[in-house]
Amino acid sequence: MTIKNFGKAPHALFKKLVSNHITGDLIKLFYHSILSIRMEHLLIDTIKTWERFYRANFINCLSGFKSANLIGTVNRERQPNLAVFSSVVHLGSDPALIGFINRPLAAAPHTINNIEATGVYTINHINPSFVEKAHQTSAKYPAEVNEFEAVGLTAQFIYPIIAPFVAESNIKYALKLVEIVSIKHNNTFLVIGEITDVIVAEGLIANDGFINIDEATSMACLGLDAYYTTTKATRYGYARVTK
Ligand SMILES: Cc1cc2nc3c(=O)[nH]c(=O)nc-3n(C[C@H](O)[C@H](O)[C@H](O)COP(=O)(O)O)c2cc1C
Repeated sequence: MTIKNFGKAPHALFKKLVSNHITGDLIKLFYHSILSIRMEHLLIDTIKTWERFYRANFINCLSGFKSANLIGTVNRERQPNLAVFSSVVHLGSDPALIGFINRPLAAAPHTINNIEATGVYTINHINPSFVEKAHQTSAKYPAEVNEFEAVGLTAQFIYPIIAPFVAESNIKYALKLVEIVSIKHNNTFLVIGEITDVIVAEGLIANDGFINIDEATSMACLGLDAYYTTTKATRYGYARVTK
């Protein structure tokens, strides 16, 4: 990496210059030049030449931290399936719609096939106590393998929802399939579901409906295999235009 970290030095120097009564553009110019961070400029033609997993990791990081989830489903014979998904996105609150991106069928067939077959699935936040097991569900297990059993997580069935929840998860919800949108450009799918049931550990919901998912130890993820614990930095009120 060529990014230089100057730490606190420029700030201290800036203060010293100000205290020495050097003012105006000269200070600004000097301050900016010592603060300047050396940046790498990468063109897509270069990126395309990179090794597949290196490139996938790199591009995946650019859209930032994502939520770390396990999606639970069953097939027509009620055989459970569980896999990690990070591309979960809020689509709207009323109706309560959630989308996620499913990779091409050849790469990730079971979750999407089960959702199409049954119309029901669960999304479960990943917590540090079982993150390693959760990650393992991303391995390409054959269709007949129940990932709950393979990795050692507990399938929790809450009547009448036929899709399994992850018992260990502190925040989870069930959805009914609304629509699967095929993205032709890269053979992926946007799977859209409407929330039907929400299961949240007690004490996490604030007075205004906000869920303290950091207190629930819900994790974020990045790239192909990195997981993060989270800490709230701040909360602001609803932003309004001020005069
Ligand atoms: C951190 C992480 C995030 C992932 N996110 C997604 C995702 O959003 N969409 C997807 O299709 N696959 C994702 N995967 C890959 C799937 O977990 C993997 O392809 C899995 O085998 C799919 O299983 P299935 O065929 O049982 O659905 C992710 C894997 C990891 C490790």
